[in-house]
Amino acid sequence: MNFLLILYSLLHLTLAHGLSRHPLRNRRQLSATDGIQSNGLQNNVTWDKYSYFVNGKRLMLFSGEVHPYRLPVASLYLDVFQKIKAMGMNAVSFYVFWGILEPKKGDISFEGFRDLQPFFDAAKKAGIYLIARPGPYINAETTAGGFPGWGTYTPGIWRTSNASYIDAYTGYIKAVGAKIAANEITKGGPVILVQSENEYSGWQAPYSEDYEYEKKLKQAFIDTGITVPITTNDAWPGGHYTSVDVYGYDSYPNGFDCSHPTTWKSDAVPESFWSAHQQYTPNIVNAVYEFQGGAFDGWGGSGYDTCAVLTGPEFERVFYKNEIAMSTTFLNLYMIFGGTNWGGIAHPGVYTSYDYGSAITEDRRLRDKYYELKLIANFLAVSPAYLTSRPQNVGSSQGAFTGNSALKTTQLLDVVGNKTAFYVIRPADASLNAVQQYKLTLPTSIGNVTIPTVGGTLALNGKDSKIHVVDYAAGSTTVVYSSAEIATWATIDGKDVIILYGSAGELHETAIKSSSTPSVVSGSGTIKTKSLSGGVLAIQYTTTGQTVVQVGNTLLYVLDRANAYQFWPVTPTSSLNTIHADTGSVIVKGGYLLRSASTISGTLALTGDLNSTTTFEIIAPTAAAQKVTFNGESLDVSKSSHGTITAKKTITLPDVKLPDLSSLTWKKADSLPEISPSYSDAAWTTANRASTVNPTTPTTPVILYAGEYGYHTGNILWRAHFTATGTETAFKVKVMGGSAFGYSVWLDSTFLGSWEGDSVRQDYEGTFKIATSPKKGSSHVITILQDHMGYEEDWIVGSETFKGPRGIISYSFVGSTGTKVDTWKVTGNLGGESYVDKTRGPLNEGGLFAERQGWHLPGFDDASWVPGKPTEGISSAGVAFYRTSFKLDVPSGVDYPIAFAVSNSTTNPHYRAQFYVNGYQFGKYVNSIGPQKVFPVPQGILNYQGDNTFAVSLWAEKATGAKLNSLKLQLNAKIESSMAKVASQPAPAWSQRKGAY
Ligand SMILES: *[C@@H]1O[C@H](CO)[C@@H](O)[C@H](O)[C@H]1NC(C)=O
Repeated sequence: MNFLLILYSLLHLTLAHGLSRHPLRNRRQLSATDGIQSNGLQNNVTWDKYSYFVNGKRLMLFSGEVHPYRLPVASLYLDVFQKIKAMGMNAVSFYVFWGILEPKKGDISFEGFRDLQPFFDAAKKAGIYLIARPGPYINAETTAGGFPGWGTYTPGIWRTSNASYIDAYTGYIKAVGAKIAANEITKGGPVILVQSENEYSGWQAPYSEDYEYEKKLKQAFIDTGITVPITTNDAWPGGHYTSVDVYGYDSYPNGFDCSHPTTWKSDAVPESFWSAHQQYTPNIVNAVYEFQGGAFDGWGGSGYDTCAVLTGPEFERVFYKNEIAMSTTFLNLYMIFGGTNWGGIAHPGVYTSYDYGSAITEDRRLRDKYYELKLIANFLAVSPAYLTSRPQNVGSSQGAFTGNSALKTTQLLDVVGNKTAFYVIRPADASLNAVQQYKLTLPTSIGNVTIPTVGGTLALNGKDSKIHVVDYAAGSTTVVYSSAEIATWATIDGKDVIILYGSAGELHETAIKSSSTPSVVSGSGTIKTKSLSGGVLAIQYTTTGQTVVQVGNTLLYVLDRANAYQFWPVTPTSSLNTIHADTGSVIVKGGYLLRSASTISGTLALTGDLNSTTTFEIIAPTAAAQKVTFNGESLDVSKSSHGTITAKKTITLPDVKLPDLSSLTWKKADSLPEISPSYSDAAWTTANRASTVNPTTPTTPVILYAGEYGYHTGNILWRAHFTATGTETAFKVKVMGGSAFGYSVWLDSTFLGSWEGDSVRQDYEGTFKIATSPKKGSSHVITILQDHMGYEEDWIVGSETFKGPRGIISYSFVGSTGTKVDTWKVTGNLGGESYVDKTRGPLNEGGLFAERQGWHLPGFDDASWVPGKPTEGISSAGVAFYRTSFKLDVPSGVDYPIAFAVSNSTTNPHYRAQFYVNGYQFGKYVNSIGPQKVFPVPQGILNYQGDNTFAVSLWAEKATGAKLNSLKLQLNAKIESSMAKVASQPAPAWSQRKGAY
């Protein structure tokens, strides 16, 4: 996703017509209209105009986006997948990042965290289907949009059928395609779909949609052995690249302004998705391959907690239900778990955290929005009639069925089953907060009914949306209508248990076909009833707390939202074939997370996570739950008044003492020896290229773009050797590094000054005074240390923005036009594209002396270093490097996410710091820009049962020096957990680096 999308979304109505000149073609249809379609290569994954089928079973694919490269701990994938599955989703969509797999052309590696197999294996174990999105372009707020750095100097326009680009991606597609093909559902794996390209939707003149490229890329995937359907995600429903098997689109309707999280767009619940779907691809699934699940935040932004508000539970209700109103049967939320832009993953628009304000936080905790989503996902999972429904009144939903023009109500009819209907109600203007009273007049099997029939009115409370069902089957119970929403239902021991909810204190009415007399069997709520025609009983209640109503063989759980959040329908197995059983056979109330339930010999074994002592209510077949265990511990059970099981689980959260970083022994060394007179840069790369294919026309005698020399990430150092004319009074230089970058300049050992950066400027021209002009004929060196914030993305085809240089755009000596630089030298990470650390990958290290030497790695002997702490800092401009180590002893059976935290320094604000945990760079902090101050480090990068090496680089950008204001470790949560044991990711120790300079 990209902020450019906002612009494009605004333009989309005009553009959709202007740019789409490509009718549907190449689609293999087995029958003209309603038939099941296949790509002809396999039959495990098929589709029709309503939905996908997996092995012939029609299903809602409710998916969340997770990027394996943003969670470099393979043994944590299962935890994330289980959380997604427990929420009621059944699929995960993931990008593959070409740039880290093939950092040097032809040299492809899946070593270390780059191995995809653990991701495939964990998905299969959790019962999650996968949608692979290997690009080659991914965007993804990732450096160069996922392209390898060497793309910046490769001729030809990328994302077109240009031969050099096709040559560039061929090796990668072969390698990644083979991995995906081996893990397809056709071979027993979890992969059901593969996406070609990514938001191939915007072109800059003279480029336009390149059908040749589209065709070649799709074929390239098929040639690797991939047989499952090929999809693509248009950036909006614009009809681009419809020659894939199952086209779909993206939408981020609430934008990315996290700093105004309660300000919503007024036109944010568009119905145009349906007309676009009808226009471009009416015979296939209405598939939304990316829908807003959060928002990214940039340097200087307002922080991810605000993004989680912008896209919180209210957002989920209004916007996801709007998608449901458009019969969307493939819905992928970007992101469901964001992870971390550790190392050099980020493009300049984002910082280290990629939390995204998602349902699952960066450190794998569950936000409120997770529980709201659970209600929606589980409802869809038990509502097969939805899958063959069609909206009937798109464009005329305003005021429909309510007579209230402040409300839109979309009528979705199951046009195959011809019985059930869904009425999706939401504000016509999503930016407003008003309370709307309404009555619904709905056609039902007993004729038109105006709800509520028992008296009173319904209400939509501000930013809210509801799905009212009509003639809905819950087991053998027919719900003739319900204004309260259905969270889930199941038939348990012959009883239909229906979980109904509304906001606290709301009036609701549910009518079922029944001749029995209803009674409140639990809770303090009261009911009013009315017999309607046709043997239908209307029951009116308010949703407050929890009340259980029995009507014959049906149990209605009447809940407010907070209570509804606590319910977990669980299916007894998690194998792929039963991934989405129509009903959970067990419903459990309680617990922070319920991962699984199994029953063996009358014992119901539950596993999950708790953050407090919990009393469960368990609705399970009697024979299956004679005894109950939770995480292996036997619970005392008793029976509730209405026959369900209650069981209390006391938690113990062991204390863990985190080391006090300020009292540890720290060692310090200078990491800028480059400015000392004795330093030799002989081993550095000579920057001597005279020409470049880069679209940024060079103005310097030799090309000074670091990428030309194979340096694509982290800090870059430049050295200019010159002979003075004696009249130089200043050095003027324009450096480009991406938003929030900075640079510092030295003449020999003398600090000249810095551009300390701001959140906006991607380049800056500074003039740095030379106090005393050097002597005529004397030799000198200018040293420039610059930050590289990642490459730009390449969202608009033909813009070539990802090739935007990182380096020196222009320079001159003020007072002396005749001064020539004899030699330019450059270095970034040791080895450049032939990077040293194959485990931590090509983006973990930059060009700081400390990094080139491997000082950030465990096992380096710093005995000869002087004592010194990053909170003491340095008193002049330069770079210091600090190391310490500590032990952790976190017991098993808990999930205690740990982060390191800094605080903002206002006394000497201009500094940059990078933080390394066991050699992995897990934080980049720019004190004067922010906003991130808390940097989570996953277990597995942190060794929870043993030694850890922690290192900090501190780059003081002002002559007064800098220090960290504070630095500490903190626990972000304490959770008793049944997560699988976490294996530490390999963290190879330091060894003497050959040729390090
Ligand atoms: C894929 O389809 C084939 C043929 O219907 C079937 O035998 C096989 O079990 C399916 N594979 C999986 C993993 O579901």
